[in-house]
Amino acid sequence: MSELDREAIRAMRRSYGEVGLENLSADPFAAFSTWLKEAAANDFIVEANAMVLSTLGQSSSGAEEHISTRTVLLKDISEGGFTFFTNYSSRKAQAMELNSQVTLLFPWYAMERQVSISGFAEKISESESAEYFASRPWSSQIGAWASAQSSPLSSREELEQRFAGASEKWPEGTTVPKPPHWGGYRVTPISIEFWQGRYSRLHDRLRYERANSEAEWEITRYYP
Ligand SMILES: Cc1cc2nc3c(=O)[nH]c(=O)nc-3n(C[C@H](O)[C@H](O)[C@H](O)COP(=O)(O)O)c2cc1C
Repeated sequence: MSELDREAIRAMRRSYGEVGLENLSADPFAAFSTWLKEAAANDFIVEANAMVLSTLGQSSSGAEEHISTRTVLLKDISEGGFTFFTNYSSRKAQAMELNSQVTLLFPWYAMERQVSISGFAEKISESESAEYFASRPWSSQIGAWASAQSSPLSSREELEQRFAGASEKWPEGTTVPKPPHWGGYRVTPISIEFWQGRYSRLHDRLRYERANSEAEWEITRYYP
């Protein structure tokens, strides 16, 4: 790294705001919904429902525990959990099969906010997944058939051909069935932490925690 790069990176810092977490709801789902709505209404935030999902699986050699992380889109908050959709044969799905414990992170930097969630992922029912799949645009539905997500792909052309093949089978305007390898997961949280950037690096952190999904939430403020 050149001296100039290092100086430029070191100089990257912003001062954060005055507003704290005093008015956050005692129900973390209500608090989250409020923040998601605010993020969605903020012109500087793209994909407000994007969240970083981390899982603990095995390395490709199968030998050891291995953390992996990627972005997925939140598609529902109901039944006490956070739902996203993916390929049930993907790397993340294989990891969640071995270890259902996951984390989710919403990085809403433009609002000087983040929400970090820790919980347990479970597949949702086939009928729930089918219902959501039916609401997706045709090209996304065909894409779900075309992609063997997380498997090695020899060329871009192979993917395009698989897309063309599925398009022929289910032309635009026809009903595309949900692939059996595609569906949702719901993450039931045991911890939801709200972080609000504040002046002088004296940020606010409130973590809602519970021992299990039946237990009451306890709220603790943490040092920033
Ligand atoms: C903004 C954004 C949204 C994404 N949404 C999803 C999603 O909802 N579901 C999904 O399977 N992959 C989504 N992806 C792709 C994943 O990040 C990832 O590349 C893919 O799921 C394969 O991950 P894996 O091999 O670790 O299983 C998204 C990527 C980005 C950048």
